[in-house]
Amino acid sequence: MKLRGRFTLSLALAALVPILVAAVVTRQVIASSSRAGYEEDRNTAETAIRRELDTIANEVHEAVGSLADNRNPLVGQLLLELAKGTLYDGKVLKSLREQGGQVMRGLSLQVLTVTGPDDRVLITPHYRDATDDANPMVRDRAVKTSGTAYYVNEQVRTGPTVETVLVVESAHLSRKDGFTVALAAGRKVTDKLLAGIRRQGRVDARVVDMKGQVLLPPSKDWAKIAKDPPIVMPLLGPDGKPVAKIEVAVSDGDLDQVLRNITLVSALAALGALCLVVLIGLFVAKRTARDLEKLVEGSLAAARGDLEHRVPVRSKDEIGAVAAAFNFMMEDLKSSKDRLVIAERIAAWQEIARRLAHEIKNPLTPIQMAMDTLRKTWKKQHPDFGEILEESTTTVLQEADRLKHIVSEFANFARMPKPEFSRIDLNEVVRSAMTLYQEAAPVEVTLGELPEVDADKAQINQIVLNLVENARDAISKKPDGKITVSTKLGEGSDRVFLIIEDNGPGVPSEIKDKVFAPYFTTKHAKGGTGLGLAIVHRIVSDHGGRISIADAKGGGARFTIELPLRNGATLLASRI
Ligand SMILES: Nc1ncnc2c1ncn2[C@@H]1O[C@H](COP(=O)(O)OP(=O)(O)OP(=O)(O)O)[C@@H](O)[C@H]1O
Ligand SMILES: [Mg+2]
Repeated sequence: MKLRGRFTLSLALAALVPILVAAVVTRQVIASSSRAGYEEDRNTAETAIRRELDTIANEVHEAVGSLADNRNPLVGQLLLELAKGTLYDGKVLKSLREQGGQVMRGLSLQVLTVTGPDDRVLITPHYRDATDDANPMVRDRAVKTSGTAYYVNEQVRTGPTVETVLVVESAHLSRKDGFTVALAAGRKVTDKLLAGIRRQGRVDARVVDMKGQVLLPPSKDWAKIAKDPPIVMPLLGPDGKPVAKIEVAVSDGDLDQVLRNITLVSALAALGALCLVVLIGLFVAKRTARDLEKLVEGSLAAARGDLEHRVPVRSKDEIGAVAAAFNFMMEDLKSSKDRLVIAERIAAWQEIARRLAHEIKNPLTPIQMAMDTLRKTWKKQHPDFGEILEESTTTVLQEADRLKHIVSEFANFARMPKPEFSRIDLNEVVRSAMTLYQEAAPVEVTLGELPEVDADKAQINQIVLNLVENARDAISKKPDGKITVSTKLGEGSDRVFLIIEDNGPGVPSEIKDKVFAPYFTTKHAKGGTGLGLAIVHRIVSDHGGRISIADAKGGGARFTIELPLRNGATLLASRI
């Protein structure tokens, strides 16, 4: 992955991870606190409904208890009349029945049934239709419950209609002078009971009978609130069996929705952050990568030897500092290189001057000796003076010629111009140079496929000639002597190779590092100047190339020349 991608990805991760962690933690915190709140709401609602039921049961118990007291005017008189035997006088019972209605209402009760010793209904203001009916249940309930409130469905007449209503009731026995009446009275279970429990949007309640029919409907929020099973509070009848139940629903505060919202908001935040981070990351990475790419370009240029290359310094950060350091290094390299080149040139010319002096000194000695001999024999009037004169002048002339040759060769070498580069076909140069040797030497030419090379045609021709000439000298004494000239393209397609090989005696290892020096020759006898390889070396260097000597496979010398394809390019390590 590229630097830009890696950088952006790391930034995105750095932004996403905290957001996702925060989202998960928030979800957990909200979920657990909501759940705790929910449990608390359920407990509170349950406690509230119990309290409400206890309160109403106590109120009814007390109200009916006070009514059942034989000192109560109504019940007291009823028992008195019974004792007197005057109860069933038309007027007495009628007036007591009327009082019964007032007393019931006065105690905020909605049902009241009083039965006599024979269980006949004496007073029943809420449902006069049942007056005089036999109703043993009242006594029965009073005995069974001992006044504890219970729930029961009672019929109540309101005008022409009779309705069955759920009431919380208490039943008592009242005695005096051996007479007993039973009394059951109660209060309608109304919405007021539920109002105390309801909390808008959070807690709702309803009353249903055992068949599931709704007796007191909930508020309109019921469907929204009642997602979990409601708290059920049975309303027990006198026999302890439930007659109806209160259902209390508690909202979980729409926890699922809240959590969904958190997830959604977190996802949106993460998406937003991701977009932002990717944009910022791309921007920063682009800038950084662009500067780094410039540095890479600069390094490659430096490796190619282009010491003029500079990278832009765009920022004051570390990359800017590296770019500035790089430019400084290039500047330094360039001036070092310039200094080195000058120093190398001075050293080379000093060496040439030294060798030239040596070369000139060589012919001077025989000249000096010849002249000395001539003078001495002349002084002695030697009889063979004529012969000696002949020999000496011949020597002097020969050495003078040699001197002339040395001087003119040196002049050629010293005058050698800088290469004039043009795109040339190296194979073509080799081919045309070889035509000169077609007859003179056994040369085998193997040419690879090459692109055009930036080089000086005449100078390259000179290289080929000098090297082949040396090879020819090397195989001159060998009947099966052979010269091989080949070219090929370097592996990286940045250079070409010119290889000239022979199967002569080879270059002895002790002189391998001397053969390129001017005036080094082992061919004095044959008039070798020792400038051939020096010229080759200089041309190759001027082309930015390299030359090396190795032993050929079957013995012999192998000269390998590498030339860069393009003028100005520097060759890195050899990749033959
Ligand atoms: N192919 C070769 N095989 C063996 N020795 C070689 C070969 N080429 C060069 N040399 C050695 O390197 C020396 C220097 O060669 P260079 O071409 O510079 O000078 P030269 O051949 O001696 O003289 P000139 O080139 O002036 O005739 C040679 O004298 C020889 O000893
Ligand atoms: Mg030579």
